[in-house]
Amino acid sequence: MEVETLEQTISFVREKLNNAEAGHDWFHVERVWKNAKLILEREIADREVVELTALLHDIADSKFHDGDEEIGPRIASDFLLSIGVSAEKVTHIQKIIKNMSFKASLGKVSFHSKEMEIVQDADRLDAIGAIGIARAFHFGGYKNNPLFDPQVIPRLNQTKEEYKKNTGTTINHFYEKLLLLKDKMNTITAKAIAEKRHSYMEGFLSQFYEEWDGHK
Ligand code: ADP
Ligand code: NI
Repeated sequence: MEVETLEQTISFVREKLNNAEAGHDWFHVERVWKNAKLILEREIADREVVELTALLHDIADSKFHDGDEEIGPRIASDFLLSIGVSAEKVTHIQKIIKNMSFKASLGKVSFHSKEMEIVQDADRLDAIGAIGIARAFHFGGYKNNPLFDPQVIPRLNQTKEEYKKNTGTTINHFYEKLLLLKDKMNTITAKAIAEKRHSYMEGFLSQFYEEWDGHK
């Protein structure tokens, strides 16, 4: 891959995400990109597609664009074509961005590739562990959701529509998504990292309940 392609993409993303909220800002993208590069060390895949997708995967989240799920993939592909990336790769990248999210995975996903597995793992790793906890409470605060309510039961096996509408507690989000991610990892590298991050979240939850009950 040409250094220029990467550099132009980085500046485009940094600029676009300048005012993004903390859960989906440039630093999230940078962490996902780093995770993707780590996973790539042990996988055979198209490096250019993986790195460019990692950088562009959250260029416009539908959550912040009235639910428009086409806008992100469209902005990404218009940009990539404008800097001369091949149409074939652009189509692949666009398909990954459309299908890789947790939300999309709750619906029907008809597309699959090694490159998608890698970027999906890289993004999912950033939703768990210490960073995952920070992002979840940040998101909950943004939505004004309660931290926890013992009366509100987690809703497992939600459909894509239910997941999007959910206004439950942030602690429930751990049961509805974060604790499920470890078993959804595609690559061995991500599986190993996810195990550790998963245990860290379990430790956090048990400490949380002890403190909630005034036991610690
Ligand atoms: P995706 O973009 O993969 O579909 P989401 O947009 O659901 O994933 O999640 C993006 C980030 O926001 C993640 O870190 C996730 O944990 C957090 N998040 C999403 N929904 C909630 C929620 N209801 N409560 C707390 N955090 C949430
Ligand atoms: Ni992301």
